[in-house]
Amino acid sequence: MMHKKWIGGVLLLLIGMFTSVLGAFIGINIGTDVSDLPSETDTVALLKAHQISHVRLYNADTHMLKALSNSGIEVMVGVTNEEILGIGQSPSTAAAWINKNVAAYLPSTNITAIAVGSEVLTSIPHAAPVLVSAMNSLHKALVASNLNYQVKVSTPQSMDVIPKPFPPSTAGFNLSWGPTIYQILQFIKNTNSYYMLNAYPYYGYTEGNGIFPLDYALFRPLPSVKQIVDPNTLFHYTSMFDAMVDATYYSIEAFNFSGISIVVTESGWPWFGGSNEPDANTGNAQTYTNNLIRRVLNDSGPPSQPKLPINTYIYELFNEDERPGPVSVKNWGVLFTNGSSVYPLSLSTSNQITGNSSGVFCVAKADADPDKLQDGFKLGLWARSS
Ligand SMILES: *[C@@H]1O[C@H](CO)[C@@H](O)[C@H](O)[C@H]1NC(C)=O
Ligand SMILES: *[C@@H]1O[C@H](CO)[C@@H](O)[C@H](O)[C@H]1NC(C)=O
Ligand SMILES: *[C@@H]1O[C@H](CO)[C@@H](O)[C@H](O)[C@H]1NC(C)=O
Ligand SMILES: *[C@@H]1O[C@H](CO)[C@@H](O)[C@H](O)[C@H]1NC(C)=O
Ligand SMILES: *[C@@H]1O[C@H](CO)[C@@H](O)[C@H](O)[C@H]1NC(C)=O
Ligand SMILES: *[C@@H]1O[C@H](CO)[C@@H](O)[C@H](O)[C@H]1NC(C)=O
Repeated sequence: MMHKKWIGGVLLLLIGMFTSVLGAFIGINIGTDVSDLPSETDTVALLKAHQISHVRLYNADTHMLKALSNSGIEVMVGVTNEEILGIGQSPSTAAAWINKNVAAYLPSTNITAIAVGSEVLTSIPHAAPVLVSAMNSLHKALVASNLNYQVKVSTPQSMDVIPKPFPPSTAGFNLSWGPTIYQILQFIKNTNSYYMLNAYPYYGYTEGNGIFPLDYALFRPLPSVKQIVDPNTLFHYTSMFDAMVDATYYSIEAFNFSGISIVVTESGWPWFGGSNEPDANTGNAQTYTNNLIRRVLNDSGPPSQPKLPINTYIYELFNEDERPGPVSVKNWGVLFTNGSSVYPLSLSTSNQITGNSSGVFCVAKADADPDKLQDGFKLGLWARSS
């Protein structure tokens, strides 16, 4: 008996270490534009080997959802951008989608969220008018199946919906999207869901043309004379990631909503790029990703919401070599398809403690002039290119 109890204690302790006490978690996105994608079973084995507790899929692939059954992994499924119009225009299409892609797998596959589209407002604005009705119809179908407490519905937005994210305290949504964003927030509030944010300091840094310190983008300490401070709140921003999350909290607040939390549905750093993309390299990617994990798993929130953990899904599991676009777009993966990691990486807190992050430092650009920095912030250079 004593022995069993002791084992139970150790197990609890381990579980606590992997998910962290207050529940902050690191998940991972699984994009599938990969030429030599491993089988679904192999992929799930890899996830388990790396103690990954949460995944996000961009669709609701039946093989992947079956492979994830009884894995203990929580799953966010995706309505693709192509599916939104149909679902938004027809409640019965929405109900069929829920039956086929969610209800059919529960409870053995632990689907806990549906991401409706990907950066819809900025990537397929013509679908914006039906986005909220798609979300509503999906939610109603969940209610009808009594799954609405188990599965949350939301929609990931890019930072592009916030034109001037710095200083965070004065950030606000682009009012061209005002009515839609207001309805999204109302929906999130009414259904006890959360705001999904894709936050990419990589783009904030590279599109800043050198006016942002690389260290700030990579969560590295800034010299005491170059601290980044919000002049209204006097909060110090130790990372661009924190500032992006806070800019979003303040934007939500500016619409008079409270009690809505943010989950970062994508963040990461490319480890390889074209000759004109020097910042996409393994050193930066290793630093960013490991520091991001450490940052999230320390459980604190951004300066304005210190008690709200920033649950985050890393972008992404494998390199998507079949995605169109610049070289960097194809090289965000943290694992090769043979399962070895692209750079040393600790995806769980237990490894984190002994993680060896030496040798990852790279030469930062000369520190930015604070005035230029302000100009850059005013220009809203944190946007992800579409
Ligand atoms: C599914 O995830 C939820 C949310 O974390 C958790 O409460 C529940 O126990 C999980 N269910 C299973 C069957 O693992
Ligand atoms: C707001 O969004 C509209 C529509 O996409 C765009 O034309 C405009 O430039 C944006 N405003 C700012 C300040 O970014
Ligand atoms: C938020 O509330 C304030 C104070 O009541 C009001 O002045 C403002 O117009 C409201 N903003 C929005 C977007 O509803
Ligand atoms: C957690 O991270 C935040 C932001 O970087 C930092 O301000 C805070 O001191 C950290 N807390 C601990 C306990 O390390
Ligand atoms: C896995 O694949 C990568 C990239 O092709 C290669 O560099 C690495 O050596 C492979 N690892 C193993 C263990 O085969
Ligand atoms: C960390 O890695 C570096 C370079 O690979 C190595 O020289 C160093 O001994 C390692 N430190 C620890 C504590 O493992």
